Amino acid sequence: MSSDIKSSNITWHHGHLTAEERFKKLGQKGAVLWLTGLSGSGKSTVAREVELALVENGINAYVLDGDNIRHGLNKNLGFSPEDRSENIRRIGEVAKLFAEANVVVLTAFISPYRADRDLARALLPEGTFFEIFCDASLETCEQRDPKGLYKKARAGEIPEFTGISAPYEAPEKAELILKTGEESLKDSTLRVLHLLKERGMINL
Ligand code: ADX
Repeated sequence: MSSDIKSSNITWHHGHLTAEERFKKLGQKGAVLWLTGLSGSGKSTVAREVELALVENGINAYVLDGDNIRHGLNKNLGFSPEDRSENIRRIGEVAKLFAEANVVVLTAFISPYRADRDLARALLPEGTFFEIFCDASLETCEQRDPKGLYKKARAGEIPEFTGISAPYEAPEKAELILKTGEESLKDSTLRVLHLLKERGMINL
């Protein structure tokens, strides 16, 4: 647990169910599928497709998406290195809560810093956190430019834009690398589902 807790006089409370008992009652395991990659690399698209496939098979899955979360929980954060780290720290904690509630949670954030992703990983029990690199090249993402942001960034209208004027640290130990610039959405989706099956997280 974090040593830099501001509050004092707080006590940790346990529920009535162990993780094993919860699994037996609910019939599904919680997991975090942490998608990382440049803006426009396909993180949200893949996450939504996997979410749909899982829910259609009766597995509770839920996407936490960068742009959406920045409208609410993280609306007080921008894109400085400090704010991005805090963004990912909060999402890591939220993802952990979802996983503890036996939900398969998919996170779709650039999460450009390796150290931040490692901290999110460290919150989860071994074997329940899957780092998935949406590995599309900057050229591909810039060509796609679905929100017109690369164009603005090149024109100097968006400071600290990932890949242009802010760094992206590619994963070194991803559980899965999706070549989202080359392979089809269907293939990427099937590869994520296969990983979950292979690791005993789902039973499809
Ligand atoms: S992260 O770096 O902190 O993980 P996050 O995934 O939440 O980023 O948000 C990224 C999204 O915010 C991008 O897909 C894009 O739509 C938008 N955005 C706006 N400004 C920037 C910027 N300076 N760098 C990257 N993305 C930006």
